Amino acid sequence: MIYPIEINNLHYKYEKDAREILNGANLKVAKGETVAIVGLSGSGKSTLIYNICGIIPHIYRGEAKGQVKIWGKDILDMKLSEISTKVGIVFQDPDTQLFSPTVEDEIAFGPENLCIAREQIGLRIKKVLETVNMEEYRLENPGNLSGGQKQLIAIASVLAMETEILLFDEILSQVDKEGRIKIREVIKGLKEEGKTIILIEHDLNNLQIADRVLQLKDGKLEEFKAGDIIGLHRT
Ligand SMILES: Nc1ncnc2c1ncn2[C@@H]1O[C@H](COP(=O)(O)OP(=O)(O)O)[C@@H](O)[C@H]1O
Ligand SMILES: [Mg+2]
Repeated sequence: MIYPIEINNLHYKYEKDAREILNGANLKVAKGETVAIVGLSGSGKSTLIYNICGIIPHIYRGEAKGQVKIWGKDILDMKLSEISTKVGIVFQDPDTQLFSPTVEDEIAFGPENLCIAREQIGLRIKKVLETVNMEEYRLENPGNLSGGQKQLIAIASVLAMETEILLFDEILSQVDKEGRIKIREVIKGLKEEGKTIILIEHDLNNLQIADRVLQLKDGKLEEFKAGDIIGLHRT
């Protein structure tokens, strides 16, 4: 069986003599599945998904052992540009992801890099702004938006790449309550559309969207048990 995401016995440290952040992690995510990953701060959740979107090993090299496959293809055999058409990632802090003068430029940036035709890009902008319910902000400067709205635009710009796999790295943690409700609705919609989603979370309220919850502990992924909630909280 070919999985959208398959990780086999992954070990990783950022530097040669540093601690092993990942220490034999295994994961298979099926098409259309939403998997939440929880774990204490510093347990390596971001590191794990950097290994899925290619930031590791293509940007941070470090020392990796084991295998990460996207649709059966080893990530080492894929360029970042190819990975970016298959896996999208949204980060915790939308300010790290937004840099264009207008919302539409921001959303166009990724598809433009793929040399997609202008009308096609226009259609994508319209579609993703509808998905996140931000159509009226098309010409706005992202810098003028609220935290939640910025995160919706960061999501929209990732959706414009039309990847089937989406990685959300604690994307609700810097967003107010109203924004969180909107973003949760967007994630639910994407799940219903059949996207394959990994949700990194430390807020138990956000786990309800997931089909499955795993815990990253001692560098490995294990089944999450209700008793293991130390360090997690509800907002
Ligand atoms: N670029 C980096 N260089 C060296 N160490 C890092 C780097 N990024 C993260 N780490 C270390 O890796 C560990 C796991 O970090 P991270 O994956 O961000 O955890 P989490 O997302 O679960 O909070 C931490 O000890 C952190 O200090
Ligand atoms: Mg993190």
